[in-house]
Amino acid sequence: MIKTRDNWGSRLAFILAASGSAIGLGNIWRFPTVAYQNGGAAFVQIYILFVFFIGFVVMVAEIALGRNTQLNPVGAYRKLASPRSPWAVAGFLAVTASWAVVSYYSVVAGWTLRYIFTTVSGTFSHPLSQEQIADIFSRMVTSPWQSIFWHLLFMVLTVAVVMGGVRQGIERWSKILMPALFLIILMLVIRAVTLNGAARGLGEYLRADWSKVHAGTFIAAMGQAFFSLSLGAGTMLTYGSYASRDENIVNSAAWVCFLDTLIAFMAGLAIFPVLFLMQGIQPEVGAKLIFFVLPRLFAEIPFGTLFGTGFFVLLLVAAVTSSISLLEVPVAYFVDERGWNRNKATLFCGVAAFLVGVPSALSVGAVGALSNLLTVGSRTFGFLDLMDLCSGQYMMTFGALMIALFTGWRWGVNALRSEITHTESSALIRRIIAFQIRYVCPLVIIGLIAYIILNPGAFS
Ligand code: TRP
Repeated sequence: MIKTRDNWGSRLAFILAASGSAIGLGNIWRFPTVAYQNGGAAFVQIYILFVFFIGFVVMVAEIALGRNTQLNPVGAYRKLASPRSPWAVAGFLAVTASWAVVSYYSVVAGWTLRYIFTTVSGTFSHPLSQEQIADIFSRMVTSPWQSIFWHLLFMVLTVAVVMGGVRQGIERWSKILMPALFLIILMLVIRAVTLNGAARGLGEYLRADWSKVHAGTFIAAMGQAFFSLSLGAGTMLTYGSYASRDENIVNSAAWVCFLDTLIAFMAGLAIFPVLFLMQGIQPEVGAKLIFFVLPRLFAEIPFGTLFGTGFFVLLLVAAVTSSISLLEVPVAYFVDERGWNRNKATLFCGVAAFLVGVPSALSVGAVGALSNLLTVGSRTFGFLDLMDLCSGQYMMTFGALMIALFTGWRWGVNALRSEITHTESSALIRRIIAFQIRYVCPLVIIGLIAYIILNPGAFS
């Protein structure tokens, strides 16, 4: 029996789904604060260079590997190397990394789900003190049942979409959610830049302060670029495996990189003016920024509840289209390599990711032992932080290195060039990509890995 593989209905569908994967929590809450800490527009410029010279190239290679083999990461390495080749380990690492990332990604996404309800019900519509706001967050994360409940609900959403399949699930939802995401962020940017006093925050964001740029800035830019572009964990490879033979990979990857960077930049435009309206508030990173600082402002700005609800809906939408891409990686593995049907594979992968996510959900205060597993200097790492460190940083950076080395030296740049040959794309661009993937990417990534091994938690 010939099994036909799922595929995207159109080129646009592929670009939307891949952008959906790329645009996620990383763009909206991480990019603006990392940018602030590293000199605003100076960081943005460095970041764009990395996206263009490294991220884009690795993305082309990942998509090409998937499209060429029409397989999941394990199958792709096996097919192009040999069935018993040690390269298959790189495939397993990629599958494990995506699976691990989705387990804790879902925990954080679950919080945004809960905050939609909190905001829409008007909790933040009257002024609250910082303690009261912090209390709302800590009541959620220290209650074991609440933490697990929202994580479960988000995972159910993810599983429901992935179960629908490539075309009826992922593609269909990406086509609805991505335009919605764009509209919401556009509304938020307009609301934010027209606030009284917006200029101050915008000034902070758009001024290139080169005095804050140091070695760590380059590392932060690279780590952020990989995470944000969904590279190194087999996500783009798997999505590429559903792409058609006449897809122009170079062109589509360029679109995904552009859209991902655009949304990250817009998130900064939306968040900074609001943030700097509050005297004396230092931009906080990650969860604190989103759940402690922003809610305080919703009470004070016109249409604050609407703004706030829109903001958490935006986060949820961005998170769903990313988590479905993460879950799809192990699902594709079980479908291709083990011959499981999609429903069984999705259910199994979803339940496993949920269970592995439970300790993460409990590690933000609900269970003390899980919340303080490791202390390095002044920082304590809980289970969730360690999962992020291992899978969201080490494993995927290593995965990106494997993609570059495999494509540059094993599969070969000639094979890559012929896979991305397309009537419209120029030979010069293909040649530059080949050079980058063979020499520049591996060297740069090895530098990054050396740095993060010496400085755990450098990105978070
Ligand atoms: N890129 C997404 C974000 O910015 C997260 C994501 C999806 C991801 N797939 C990935 C991160 C694969 C690492 C690897 O939030």
